[in-house]
Amino acid sequence: MKLHVDYETKNYEASEVKILGLFSKKDGVTQTWSDKNLFKMFQMVRGSKNFTADAGTSFTFTASDCSTVIIMGLGEKTSAKAEQIRKAIANAYKQVAGKKFSTIAIDIASFNAINKLDLTAELALESLKMTSYTFDNYKSKKTESAIKNIYLYVSDKKVKKSLEKLEVKTQNITSSINYARDLINEAPNTLHSEEYADRIDKDVKTALKGKGVTLKTLGMKELKKENMNLFLSVNAGSAYDPRLVHLTYTPKKVTKATKHYCLVGKGLTFDTGGYSLKPGGSMMGMKFDMGGSATVYGAFRAAVLNNSPYKITCILGITDNAVNESATFPDSIVKGRNGMSVEILNTDAEGRLVLADCLDYACDLKPDYLIDAATLTGACLVALGSEVCAVLGNDDKFIKDVLTSAKDQDEYMWQLPIIPEWRDDMKSKIADLKNIGTPMRAGTATAAAFLENFIKNDVKWAHLDIAGVCDSQAHLPYCPPKGASGLIIRSLSHLLSK
Ligand code: BES
Ligand code: MN
Ligand code: ZN
Repeated sequence: MKLHVDYETKNYEASEVKILGLFSKKDGVTQTWSDKNLFKMFQMVRGSKNFTADAGTSFTFTASDCSTVIIMGLGEKTSAKAEQIRKAIANAYKQVAGKKFSTIAIDIASFNAINKLDLTAELALESLKMTSYTFDNYKSKKTESAIKNIYLYVSDKKVKKSLEKLEVKTQNITSSINYARDLINEAPNTLHSEEYADRIDKDVKTALKGKGVTLKTLGMKELKKENMNLFLSVNAGSAYDPRLVHLTYTPKKVTKATKHYCLVGKGLTFDTGGYSLKPGGSMMGMKFDMGGSATVYGAFRAAVLNNSPYKITCILGITDNAVNESATFPDSIVKGRNGMSVEILNTDAEGRLVLADCLDYACDLKPDYLIDAATLTGACLVALGSEVCAVLGNDDKFIKDVLTSAKDQDEYMWQLPIIPEWRDDMKSKIADLKNIGTPMRAGTATAAAFLENFIKNDVKWAHLDIAGVCDSQAHLPYCPPKGASGLIIRSLSHLLSK
């Protein structure tokens, strides 16, 4: 399937399917269609069906030239926003995918709810790239789409220059989202720690070649040397070596004033819970526990491809959490890289142990900003559902920047507090810290309160708990209903590009 931004009417006219947007209005409908004759035709066939173009509805008819016309309701023009465009385009794609159509045309002007034709085209592209993603590596029979070409028909050539730039930018973001989705969806018997680190290494050598990226991998020996005993305690029960992947990006123009962002991601290729074993039902899906690392890598990749003006470091803490004869016992006390001792009361609260050492390592690099992403707590789903990403941290102004970035990208993100009482809750009677707080109480925030102990050098820090949003976003038509969502990469790469 090829996507073309196209400025010539001939491909639009020749397409088997035409997709158009339509706005609802109190006394009827209102349109910004390029082909006014087609609108007249629609009004004739609309008849008693009384399609009022409410958001989420659609209407299909056959035009006089026998092409299929699909009209997507966008709701009132004044309230329709970017997300409405993404959703309408995604739903339209789903209507034509799996059918016999080979050429589809989308009248971009008809979806222009935001009075910016180039940005409307960008949103359509983004949505199509995200929606058409499939993970069928393991299917012996692939579902081949009959669609050969989709023309994003732009009726006004004036936007051509700016749209050419947006097209490249969007392609870089969506290819990174889909790359991260592939990693997250990969089965844990294939994507163990060693394989995961190798794949990142290969991707950096190909996709990010010549972009100013370096990669360093720390294995068992190096992690021991670094005193990353909390990280290693999680790896103790694993059949595979741990990996810390350390990526750096330096922009072409760099001065002393260039801001340095550091990203850290939880990369648990599988989380059994360890000796504090998860029950079977809760263990299912724990291949997604490396989602935080794939998210920050996806954001790093997109930002690099789009020539971010910032220095960016990306640190992936990769292992599985499994059980063998040398796995860590609950009640163990382990000293982390920063010298603090942790009483590990529950080996299923492992993500924070890996992150703790990685955050301390990251703070040694003295970044201006530090963001970690992790599928850290089931409690996040209790607090915010599976639709909202939690953000917590030590600097309200920075958190506001992160929230603004998420809002700009229509990704749901909400701040939770860290209060002194919850910091106290993470203190152990016999060690400096314990790795769990009071059961059933503010689990997302107590996890963040634990992590806060490993932030130093006045680094501004934001922690993203993506346990809810990492997979199965069935409410978003541009995400697969099951499997990796690729969400939050847009918010982060946006933050890293502005
Ligand atoms: N990876 C899980 C968190 C998780 C749970 C993500 C469900 C997505 C869906 C994490 O390592 C974990 O097991 N957390 C425990 C912490 C508890 C033992 C304090 C949890 O949430 O139950
Ligand atoms: Mn766990
Ligand atoms: Zn986990």
